[in-house]
Amino acid sequence: MCGIIGYVGPGVSDRPLRVAREALARLQYRGYDSAGIAVANSDGLSFIKRAGKLSVLEEALAADPLPPASAAIGHTRWATHGGPTDANAHPQLSYDGAVAVVHNGILENHQVLRQELIEAGIEFQSETDSEAAAHLLARAYAELGDLPEAMRAVARRLEGTFTLLAVAQDNPRLVVGARRTSPLVVGLGEGENFLGSDVAAFVAQTDRALELGQDQVVTITADAVEVTGFDGRPVRAREFRVDWDASAAVKGGFATFMEKEIHDQPTAVRDTLLGRLTPTGHLQLDELRIDESVLRSVDKIVVIACGTAAYAGHVAKYAIEHWCRVPVEVELAHEFRYRDPVVTSKTLVVAISQSGETMDTIMAVRHAREQGARVLSVVNTMGSTIARESDAALYTHAGPEVAVASTKAFLAQIAATYLLGLYLAQLRGTMFPDEVRAVLRELEQMPAKIERVIGGGDAIRELAASMKDVESVLFLGRHVGYPVAMEGALKLKELAYIHAEGFAAGELKHGPIALIDQGQAVFVVVPSPRGRDVLHDKVLSNIQEVRARGARTLVVAEEGDQAAAAHADQVFWVPQTPTLLAPLVAVVPLQMFACAVATVKGLDVDQPRNLAKSVTVE
Ligand code: G6P
Repeated sequence: MCGIIGYVGPGVSDRPLRVAREALARLQYRGYDSAGIAVANSDGLSFIKRAGKLSVLEEALAADPLPPASAAIGHTRWATHGGPTDANAHPQLSYDGAVAVVHNGILENHQVLRQELIEAGIEFQSETDSEAAAHLLARAYAELGDLPEAMRAVARRLEGTFTLLAVAQDNPRLVVGARRTSPLVVGLGEGENFLGSDVAAFVAQTDRALELGQDQVVTITADAVEVTGFDGRPVRAREFRVDWDASAAVKGGFATFMEKEIHDQPTAVRDTLLGRLTPTGHLQLDELRIDESVLRSVDKIVVIACGTAAYAGHVAKYAIEHWCRVPVEVELAHEFRYRDPVVTSKTLVVAISQSGETMDTIMAVRHAREQGARVLSVVNTMGSTIARESDAALYTHAGPEVAVASTKAFLAQIAATYLLGLYLAQLRGTMFPDEVRAVLRELEQMPAKIERVIGGGDAIRELAASMKDVESVLFLGRHVGYPVAMEGALKLKELAYIHAEGFAAGELKHGPIALIDQGQAVFVVVPSPRGRDVLHDKVLSNIQEVRARGARTLVVAEEGDQAAAAHADQVFWVPQTPTLLAPLVAVVPLQMFACAVATVKGLDVDQPRNLAKSVTVE
C-alpha cells in the first residue's frame, strides 16, 4: 500500500524526475488516491503533489515541470489517515521546508507526536500521520546536522509500521530511508542508486537489488549505499538479482493490464513449473531449505493468506490432503493472527502472497514462527518481507502483476502449491514415484489448456455485454470448484462492483437458495464427469434446483459434458482435466467475465475503486 521511489544520480539532470515518474507509473497498483514528487538540487527542494490518479499529477507536471536535480523521492498513496486531498498527498514537507518525506504505513503514536509538535509551536498542514515524521525529522536534523543520524533518531521514536524516505533541502546528493515492517528495497545502478517499495519501482533501470531487514536505515548516494540498524550499527544487506523481465510490466498491446495478465497465465504456470524435475524424474524444490526430516514429521499444515491468495490456499487444501494424507487448514491471515491458533513445532505454515508484503500475512507469519512453527512462503515478489522472514520461500514465476485484482498470480500460486503437495507426497511416501510423475505430466499440459480457454473468450464477452446491468450474481461449486466459485465472485465484486457471492453448492439448500428468484444469474462450476461421478451428479442436481426456481444458469463444464449442458442456459467449455487440477482452467472464464463486465461498464479495470494491490496496513 503506497508506492515509494527514491533516487540519487551522478549530476544535475532531468533523470531524477523521469525515474520518479516512471516508478510511480509502475507502482500505481499500490495505491492511487494521490501522488507526488520532490526533487533536490543546489537551489533546494521543489515538489509537486496532487489528489487523484497519477494522470492528474502528470498533467500538472506538463504545465509546470520540476527543475533538473540530482535526487528525487516520489509517492503514490492509498489513504489511511486523512482523505485523498492535495494537502494530504506526499511528500510531506517539514515546518521549515528543510526536509521532504514520503511515508508508507501507519504511525500508531502519531497523535502523541502531533500534540507534542503543536505544543512546540508547529502548525500542521495536513491530516496525515506522516506529517509528524517530517517535522520530527527536521528538528532532529537541525540538532544533529546529519540526515541518516536524524532519521535513526526519529525511527526510534516512531511506533507502528513505516517506510520513510527523506531528502534534505541543503543536501541534494543523498536520500535516506528507514523501514520497520513496511517494505523497502535498494536498487543498485551504475553511478546511481534507487530505493523502492518493491522491485517494480526500479526493475526497468537495474536488476541488482539489496534486501533490507527490519528496523534498518539506508542512505543512498550516486555511488554508495550504507545500511545500519536504528542504533547506527552497520549492517550487511544481502544482494539478489531480479529476474523479472521489465517489459512484462507494460501492457504490450492490450487495453488493460488485467487483459494482458489473463493472457500471461499459461506462461505464469509454465514458468512456475519449470525446472523442477531431475533427469531421473524426481521432483525437486531447491528453495525448500527446511530439513527433510522436519517436513516428514509435520503433522498439520496451516495455509495463511488473504484475498485471492487465500482461495489458492483453499484449492491447495484439497490437493495436499489427498496426496499427502496430512490435515490442511486454510485461514485468513488476519483471523489466524488474533485467535490464539494451535500451532506447534510440527506445524508447517504455508503463507501465500503475491506481493510478499500483505501486512496481515506478515503478522501471521511472525506469530506462527513465534509459536515454533516452520513457515514456508509461496511468494511472487523477490526480496519481499514475507519471503525474507520465512524459513523457506517457494517462488511463483508469474512476473510482475500490475492490475490490482489478481489473476496470473492466482494460477501460479495454485501451480506452486501443487508442486509443494507432490513434493511432500514424494518425501513422505504417500504417493508412488510414477503417480507423482503422472500428475506432473498432467500439470505440464495445463498451460496449453489454459491458452485454449482464453482463446475461446468471445462467448464470455458477449454474455458480459448482456449482463452489465445485473445487480447480483451467484457462483456455485463443490470440492475444488468451491474456491473457484468464491474467486469468481471476488473478481466480479472487485472489478465490476456487482454484488456476488460464491457458495459451496451443497450449502445452497441450507439458506442461499432463498436468494434465487426469476432471472437470477448463477454461475456453476461443474466437476469433471469422468473422475468422481458422485460429485458431478450432485452438482447437476444443484443446477436443476436453482433452475427450477427461475435462475439463469451459466455453466462452466468440461468439453463433452452433455449432461451439464442439458441444464444450462449457457455453457462455457473448458478442456478435460483431472478434478484436482481443474481450477487452473475453470477459473479463467470467470476472470474473463468479470473483466469484460467491468470494461462494458466503463470502469477502471486495473485500478478498481477503494482497493490497493499491496495492502501494507493491518
Ligand atoms: C489485496 C489485493 C488482492 C490480493 C490480496 C492479497 O486485497 O487487492 O488482489 O489477493 O491483497 O495480496 P497478496 O499480495 O498477499 O497475494
